[in-house]
Amino acid sequence: MPTARRHFYDKLSRYYWLIRLLDDRYKKTALDAIKLRPKERFLDIGCADGSVLRQAKERCSGAVLYGVDISTMMAASAKASKAKVSIGSCLYLPCKNNSFNILFSGFVLDIFDEKEQQKALIEMSRVLAPGGTLVLINNSHGKGIFTLIVRFYILLTHLFPNLLLNKPIDTCSLIEKSPGFRVNKKISLWFTDIVVCKKAPKTPVQNKIPSKHQKPAQTPKTLKADTKKQHR
Ligand SMILES: C[S@@+](CC[C@H](N)C(=O)[O-])C[C@H]1O[C@@H](n2cnc3c(N)ncnc32)[C@H](O)[C@@H]1O
Repeated sequence: MPTARRHFYDKLSRYYWLIRLLDDRYKKTALDAIKLRPKERFLDIGCADGSVLRQAKERCSGAVLYGVDISTMMAASAKASKAKVSIGSCLYLPCKNNSFNILFSGFVLDIFDEKEQQKALIEMSRVLAPGGTLVLINNSHGKGIFTLIVRFYILLTHLFPNLLLNKPIDTCSLIEKSPGFRVNKKISLWFTDIVVCKKAPKTPVQNKIPSKHQKPAQTPKTLKADTKKQHR
């Protein structure tokens, strides 16, 4: 991700409470769609200010919560959630293979082009334990009257490309092209899709991306997830 974009999110972190008011319902619905259980390892990818991590903590205080975000400022505010938060990219996750039971990522994949989306999904598949759950929330093309609103929004994204980074995408088609995951549930709300996917119980780890973070943790910034815990 270009540094300019990271700075954009650093600046946005101050006003993120405003965005939270708008998209809280999506996150609640997405968390309702999974049952988080004690000792399960949950990672929010692109965790921003940690609002999902806080909600996850309220729902299941015994879950082990982690967050990762490219923006230093976002990661700093997410640390107030008491989750273990790292600075890092979803394209090179600073985590061990098969180390989480649940991955959550809201409005992150829809920032990228399709090649990067696939890269991020390969990384997600690498760090998710076999049989684990991936929850994605992304802008969609909407249905009925909402398609018109989305068309207007697309126009705005062309006018303000440095401000409106999230684009409508078809999350289910993206998952269908990504080996190892299958769609379990899709909830469409207005112009957003919440998609719950499962990783196959015995998916071989796909180390297609050379990642400096794939080795065991050496630095304080690297998440140290225990791979021995129960897997979903
Ligand atoms: C639109 S916000 C969504 C934040 C949060 N998931 C939510 O739903 O409120 C996108 C977030 O992804 C983070 N981000 C952008 N590119 C990223 C990357 N390559 N890896 C990890 N996080 C990234 C940004 O810093 C920002 O916090």
